[in-house]
Amino acid sequence: MDTAAEGPEEGDAAVKPSMRLDKMLAHEGYGTRSDIKRLVREGAVTVNGRQAVDPGMHVRPAEDEVHVFGRAVAYREFRYVMMHKPAGVVSATEDAREPTVLGLLPEEMRRHGLFPVGRLDKDAEGLLLLTNDGKLAHGLLSPRKAVFKTYRALVRGNVDAADAKAFAAGVTLDDGYVTMPARLKVLATLPATDLAGDAAASGEEAVPEMREAARRLSEEPAFSRGAWEESVRDGAPVSWVELSIREGKFHQVKRMFAAVGKKVLYLRRVAVGDLRLDPALGPGEWRELTPDEEKALRENRGEA
Ligand code: URA
Repeated sequence: MDTAAEGPEEGDAAVKPSMRLDKMLAHEGYGTRSDIKRLVREGAVTVNGRQAVDPGMHVRPAEDEVHVFGRAVAYREFRYVMMHKPAGVVSATEDAREPTVLGLLPEEMRRHGLFPVGRLDKDAEGLLLLTNDGKLAHGLLSPRKAVFKTYRALVRGNVDAADAKAFAAGVTLDDGYVTMPARLKVLATLPATDLAGDAAASGEEAVPEMREAARRLSEEPAFSRGAWEESVRDGAPVSWVELSIREGKFHQVKRMFAAVGKKVLYLRRVAVGDLRLDPALGPGEWRELTPDEEKALRENRGEA
């Protein structure tokens, strides 16, 4: 995994008081040390208005004004990106065959060595955090830190209180692993036929969101929709649920429902700890976290 090449102590939110110019520019994506040496030799780099001559000179990123080809360099140790991952791309930095979430970012963001914090399946959507802060990522993923990841899912079947009770106690997955206690809320249950067409479904609050999930499932080519189409044909009940888990085992949500005899048709992550997916972001869109969101994430891992 390609995290930030070098730089200040992991997890240290403060900017280093002083660092080498070439290190600072490499961190900001201006290339390798030898690329930067060339830039300096060409006279492209200024520090506080004076042309830099030594790539190894020390600068204070918080105070010194560094420009490359006249463009100010804003040094930030870590980057945090919230992405609404769409279905059809894999949560990886690179992949020989499949498009990756990194490919959804512009070149200037890709240069920072970002990696996804945990995985969402290729056919899952929703909140994916990308960062180059290895320590924060580790804290968010560690089951010991108990950061809940919250999902909304369309599940074939009538998900009920017995399932919620089983999830609260822990269910046994196909490999014998017993899950940690999880919180399950059933938001609505309807026949799949009520969601498939234009027929008016009952007025429950969750129905518009459920209908949107069903629409994406039936219209987006990235989903495998066999089980959905079968549910519509059978008029089977489908449930719209919210599940919060603190672990991230492979296909965990799908396997937890399989453990109670039910099938996840559509899956979206809506929150990691207190960080919620921005509803203004459509599938495939992203933005950097606000300072408040960044702070909240650190608090999630007990590091405020
Ligand atoms: N659980 C799953 O089954 N898939 C995901 O992508 C995330 C959680």
